[in-house]
Amino acid sequence: MKVIVSLAMSVDGCLDDARAERLVLSAPADFSAVRRLRGQCDAILVGANTIRADNPRLAAEDGRSPQRVTLTRSGRLDPGATVFADPDRPTWVYCPTGGAAGLATRLGAGAEVRGLAALDTAPAGDAGDAPGLAAVLDDLDRRGIAALMVEGGRRVLTALMRAGLADELRLAIAPVLIGDPRAPRAFGAGPFHHGPDRRMTLAGVEAVADMAVIHYRLSRA
Ligand SMILES: NC(=O)c1ccc[n+]([C@@H]2O[C@H](COP(=O)([O-])OP(=O)(O)OC[C@H]3O[C@@H](n4cnc5c(N)ncnc54)[C@H](OP(=O)(O)O)[C@@H]3O)[C@@H](O)[C@H]2O)c1
Repeated sequence: MKVIVSLAMSVDGCLDDARAERLVLSAPADFSAVRRLRGQCDAILVGANTIRADNPRLAAEDGRSPQRVTLTRSGRLDPGATVFADPDRPTWVYCPTGGAAGLATRLGAGAEVRGLAALDTAPAGDAGDAPGLAAVLDDLDRRGIAALMVEGGRRVLTALMRAGLADELRLAIAPVLIGDPRAPRAFGAGPFHHGPDRRMTLAGVEAVADMAVIHYRLSRA
């Protein structure tokens, strides 16, 4: 399965600011480009906190609807979230095995919940998330997802890039500085697969409205 990471960040490396309202970093043309890229993928994955914080639609352009996927350990997801609004295209939710039946009942027809044993153990900081995330990616591969787009947030991006589980990175830089130490950085603590001794390969740089969009090819661990 090909894994593409896509994120927008400020010049000072933030995914968001610290306010409750969603911060729009992307220019409209960048949103369109991201929606086109989603349309070329079979599935889009975001962490549960991105659903809680942003309530995204995760829609593609031209009415295409890639499979929406999320993962949660706490099961703290709102059945009223936009991603659970379409019972014809339920969002796949991965969670620990013990909580799966209860979560499925609570989220209803807009979600298809799957318990994974790899999510049963509690993680210790950023290092602990990778095995669970890797198990989710393996399961998506088994379910026939050939191209997956991962859009955040910080915790999911950190685990993915620490473990070297991605093939491409699309990094869109918005020409603003957030300047708030409470704002989430795009990436948490390493070590990362692409640390200083394993550089990414620059695959392209483009201007999209006022944003610089950098494409990197990645190696797998
Ligand atoms: N600028 C951008 O491109 C962009 C894109 C996406 C998000 N964002 C921003 O990113 C922020 C959210 O990032 P975040 O780091 O707080 O959250 P996140 O990565 O979206 O979600 C983290 C949550 O996902 C679940 N999770 C992640 N890894 C897991 C694992 N291995 N096993 C089980 N569950 C796992 C946990 O849910 P539970 O807590 O339910 O257990 C965890 O708390 C928001 O401010 C959002 O606006 C920005």
